[in-house]
Amino acid sequence: MSLSTLELARRAPMIPVIVIEEIDHAVPLARALVAGGIDVLEVTLRTPVALEAIRRIAGEVEGAVVGAGTLRTARDVEDCIEAGCAFGVSPGAPASLMDAVAERVFPFLPGCNTPTEAMTLAERGHEVLKFFPASAAGGVPMLKALASPLPDIAFCPTGGVSLSNARDYLDLPNVVTVGGSWVAPVDKMRAGDWAGIEALACETAQTLA
Ligand code: 3PG
Repeated sequence: MSLSTLELARRAPMIPVIVIEEIDHAVPLARALVAGGIDVLEVTLRTPVALEAIRRIAGEVEGAVVGAGTLRTARDVEDCIEAGCAFGVSPGAPASLMDAVAERVFPFLPGCNTPTEAMTLAERGHEVLKFFPASAAGGVPMLKALASPLPDIAFCPTGGVSLSNARDYLDLPNVVTVGGSWVAPVDKMRAGDWAGIEALACETAQTLA
């Protein structure tokens, strides 16, 4: 499936930020999230199995739109495209990473949390930016303050977003989706509680629909 970054972000009110410790968790986790109504999945490149997890989800989980998170280097861009990911996300936007992204047709959410960073990324053609770490960087009031001077820039706040405050972010005119780890908690993954994760995804999808 080929979607623009904005189409991807608009497809789901929340994008789970996923840390996969065991490769055997990848497919059941993704199936549980999709079954619960959350289908745009960000698998972070924070564990040795992350790329293989993306490969398996892309190949085996019908309905999942799997991307990679925590991209930091040009090599990460190549690796995750090769693994079959549909999009990429980064907590920041170093020049070497942004140059590598510019060479590929690749939906990408670079990270920022200041007006200058947002304007610089918009200048490079990025229409949706990860706002990270959202709560520590000013949360809802900060994003609200950016909406008037920078109305054309859309954000995906991530970091400190939860089911209890996600709606406050989504109600802002410049927020298209939010990111968060709450639907894929490590304890439930370790316990193989896929039904519990499906229930969390379902509650999230229904609350934020
Ligand atoms: C991350 O990169 O880990 C995300 O910002 C997730 O943050 P959260 O655990 O506060 O949702």
